[in-house]
Order: sequence, then structure tokens, then C-alpha cells
Amino acid sequence: MSNKVVRDKNWWKESIIYQIYPWSFKDSNGDGIGDLQGIISKLDYIKSLGIDMVWLNPIYKSPNDDNGYDISDYYDIMREMGTMEDFDTLVKELHDRKIRLMMDIIVNHTSDEHPWFADARQSRENPYYSYYHWWPAEKGKPPRRYSHFDPAGNAWSYNKATDSYYLHYFSEKMPDLSWENPDVRKAIYDIMRFWFNKGIDGFRMDAICYISKDTTWPEVEEIVKEKYRSDWSAYYAHGPHLHEYLQEMHRETLDRPDVTTLAEASGITKDEALLFVKEDRKELHMLYHFEGVQLGFAKEGYKRLEPGGLNLPEMKQLYTDWNNVFAEGGWGTIYLGTHDQPRMVTRWGNDEEQYREISAKLLITFLLTMRATPIFYYGDELGMTNIRFEKIEDYKDIETINMYKYVKSQGGDTERFLKDAQITGRDNGRTPFQWDESPNAGFTTGKPWLKINDNYKFINAAAQDRDERSILRYFRQLVLLRKHKPVLTYGAYELLDPDHPQVYTYTRTLDEEKLLIVLNFSKEEVLYKLPFVLDIDTEPLVNNMLSFRLENNEITLSPYQALIFGPLPTELQPLRDEAQALVEEQPSGKMKEKNSSLESNELAI
Ligand code: GLC
Ligand code: CA
Repeated sequence: MSNKVVRDKNWWKESIIYQIYPWSFKDSNGDGIGDLQGIISKLDYIKSLGIDMVWLNPIYKSPNDDNGYDISDYYDIMREMGTMEDFDTLVKELHDRKIRLMMDIIVNHTSDEHPWFADARQSRENPYYSYYHWWPAEKGKPPRRYSHFDPAGNAWSYNKATDSYYLHYFSEKMPDLSWENPDVRKAIYDIMRFWFNKGIDGFRMDAICYISKDTTWPEVEEIVKEKYRSDWSAYYAHGPHLHEYLQEMHRETLDRPDVTTLAEASGITKDEALLFVKEDRKELHMLYHFEGVQLGFAKEGYKRLEPGGLNLPEMKQLYTDWNNVFAEGGWGTIYLGTHDQPRMVTRWGNDEEQYREISAKLLITFLLTMRATPIFYYGDELGMTNIRFEKIEDYKDIETINMYKYVKSQGGDTERFLKDAQITGRDNGRTPFQWDESPNAGFTTGKPWLKINDNYKFINAAAQDRDERSILRYFRQLVLLRKHKPVLTYGAYELLDPDHPQVYTYTRTLDEEKLLIVLNFSKEEVLYKLPFVLDIDTEPLVNNMLSFRLENNEITLSPYQALIFGPLPTELQPLRDEAQALVEEQPSGKMKEKNSSLESNELAI
């Protein structure tokens, strides 16, 4: 039931996560690539955001076929990122500022340059051969498996020395580990303990739902088509021993209150989410699903959006359904952008000049008022936008580059592919952080590894620090509000007006406190009749605009206006019809139009 309140409090439920893609945050040595010393030099900025935990994308030693998601040594730091000493400094300096650190860890696969694989591929007798998955060539062609990043879409690659094919759900330089081998599992738990002993506070677990495989290797194309609607990731996320392995991992490494985990849960539906995160199952702490960010994807094309824009009632229902899952147990997360997604303001708000700031603030309001641990991606706090590359040569991301090759090899429409990638391609979310208006946005003194968005001249942290109406200032204030109002973390969530095509309205209630959140997700002005009777003198607690107009219980919502009202009395819940009747009894002609703003209201905290 959505009204049940989760009461078992935990530090990670109360945290706000800030994700840093280290390649693009801050370069300290002029090689054009962000690094650990760069992050260390910006810790006061990170602290100023008010966030609680940094999720750091991979920084382990790697040949960087996929920017660190292909690890060649789990016990060492990537040359480009710095040294182990830098890492230790980072942990200490974060902790000195009371910020926790969540490391990305990739244990579904390694790099093909990891010594385990380098050995494994030498001969079938090598002890590391069984660390990976193989199909012996004498049995003929392996059963088809799809690879996310392979230009031919084939997850098996032939290895001459062993006369067998190895499995790679991602690129051919990223062979999948065999979790069926207990030695592999033991080695992974050792790695996890090593990093916990270094003082980190949690892991974001990459592709963790893919770890268990059906090693009888059946032909599965029909199953994928029928049971999983042609979604290979859903098939991959349902291996036979997945939950056994996660429970073992918990027993071995996670049975302690001071650490947390965040599972990347692609291919997982809401019906299964609690299998991963319900407390008594003793598996993981949190997961993030893909149903939200994939909303609006067309059936055809690669990461193509259906025409017609956001279907808001569908979006509201989706987030409400997911909320209701975690009202039963476990705990959710909420995000709109990561390193695998485009920029949130481009995808979910509106990055046209007149709407960018206001819609970025709306999305920030949404993320910080839902009952789930919010995850922000660096640059969300500035309203950074998609870069929209014109040519394939501008891209650095293996996914975009290889899928372009794939489309081309199939005789597909590469022009159209490039158009789609301008909206959904991953490099849009990976361009360097925009620090100030100096050359290269203050990110590097060298040549940036990935182009910097030209709009850094007006979208940057320094300018927004100076401007008290900026997105950055708004972000900080809303973070403070969430930290000071437990109702925003733990309060029950209730959706109102589910069918309204433009406005997303909900309440959060905890004990005697109720907040009402009204978000106009459209670029139209909307005359919105409130489902509550609001006192005529009601002022919003938060407003992402200067103006506020309430008349006869109707609010004139500007495009992308976001409002939070409260605290309201919890019992004030008349239905719309009753509300209407009450309004009509009020003396007419009472109207108000006042200036109000987040700043002027001082948030009452
Ligand atoms: C996850 C990561 C993504 C990476 C892939 C392979 O989806 O988030 O960036 O490319 O796994 O490791
Ligand atoms: Ca560097």
C-alpha cells in the first residue's frame, strides 16, 4: 500500500548521491582527461552541493575499451586517473567533509587484458580457462547470444589457441566471468573486501544482474522473443543462480551496517525488484531500474524516441508503481541521467533557451521530492545539456561507434541513427564539466578528450555561483530542504490527478506533516484546479519562479513551474468535487497575485 511509511531508517536512505564521471570532471595535469587530483581539487565545490555520497565511475587499471568498464587490474588505479596514493587522499578528504564514497565495480566481465584472461586464452588446460565461458569449436557454431557493443551483434568471439569461442555480453575486449566457478566468486569477494578495507562506503554494481548464466547453453532466441519481448538484457538478467550468488556475496562481504550497494538493474521489472533489495533476503541495498529512462523508446531503431514527446500520465503511473513496490519493503532510487543516458534537461525537460533553467529546476524538484534515494549526475546542478554531435567522428563512446557500424553493415539508415544519437547517445552525458567561462570551460589546460559543449560560456558553475537565481543555487536550497524535512525522505507518497496530461501532482505525508508538490511538465501555461482547498493566503514553500497566482483554488502555472506547498494539515483531503463546492461558497473576486520565491520564503527551515 502506498500509504505505508517505511520506518526502518538508514543512512543510505537519507543520502543524496552525486555521480562523478572522472574522465570529465576536472583535469589536473593538462592531458585532457579528468583525474583523481582534479576531483580532489574540487571537493569544496562538491561539499557545497550538500550531497552525502559520491558514486565514482570506474578508476581501476584498464585499457579503456569502454572507459574503465573493462578492468585489467582490480587492485590498481588507471594510469590516466592517478595513483593509489591519490585514491587514499580522495577517500580521506571526502570523509573529512562527511561525504561517503561509492565505487563502481564491474564483476560480470573483465578486460581481455586482465591476466586471468590473458592466461585463460592460452590453452584449455590453463587453470584460468574456467574463469570464463567457452564454447568448444568442435561442437560447431555456438548458440546465438546478443552482444550490446559488438558491431555484428554477436556475443561469441573465436580464440585460436584454444579453438573455442568466449562469451562477451559487451565488447569483444570484455569477456564475461564464469560465476559458476567458485574460485571466481571467491576472488571477487576478496576484491570487494580489499576496497572496503580501504575505507570506501559502498559499491555501485555494474551489470550485476547478468552474472549467472545457463551453462547448458540452450538455443534461446524464441524465448527472448516471446518471454522477454526481444529484450536480450531481460533474458540475461534472469540467470538460474543469480540470487544464490547475491546472497553468498552478502554473507561474504556485505553483512555490515556501514556499507551500501546500488545495483544496475537493466532487464528487471518492478515485480522482481524486491527479490534484490528486500531486507530479509540479504542481497543488495538499492537498485536502479531502466523503465523510467526508457519510457518513450520506439520499437524500431536504436535508442530512438517515439515522436510526440512525453506521455506524462504514463510517466506518472510508472514512477507511482515503482514507488508502491518500495512501500512494501526494500528501498528505491530515482534518477534521470547517468553516464549511460543523455543530459536530463534535454531528455526530460526542455533545453531551448527560454525553458532550460526553469525546466532543470523542475526536474531537480521532482528528484528531491520523491520517496527514493535521489541520484544526480554531475552537471545536473547546472542544467548542462546534450552536445548533439553532427558526425560519427566526434563520438568516443564504443556503444555509439559500434552500433553505427552495425546499422551500416545492415544497410540501415545511418543519417537517422546519428539524429537519434543526438538525443539519446551516451556521449551527450559525458562532455566535460563546465566550471567557468575560461578556455575549455576551466576543465583542462590541454586538449579535452571529448569536445566541450560551446554553451559553457553561459552555462558554468562560476557564473551560477554568482547568480542567486541560478539552477545551482536552487539545487543547493532544495537539497537543504530535503535534509531538513524527513517527510521528503520517508513520508508516504500519493499521486493525485493521474490523468492530467501536463501536471504531475503528489503529496508526501509523515506523521502530522503533509507536503503538496505540483509540477507543470509542459511548455504551456496551465490553469490548474487544485485537488485540495488551499487557504487563500497560502504561499508556496518552494517556487522555481518569481510569480505565483492562485485564484478560486486554481493556479495559473507557467511553463515548467514547480511548486511545493506545506506543511498542510494531514486531514485536509477533500475530493475535487467537494473542493469545488467549497470554493464556490467563498466570496468571489478574491484573487491574489504575489511575488514569491524560494529565496524570499527562506524555506522555513
Ligand atoms: C553498464 C555501464 C556501462 C558499461 C556497461 C558495460 O551498463 O553502466 O557504462 O558500458 O555496463 O560494463
Ligand atoms: Ca589528467
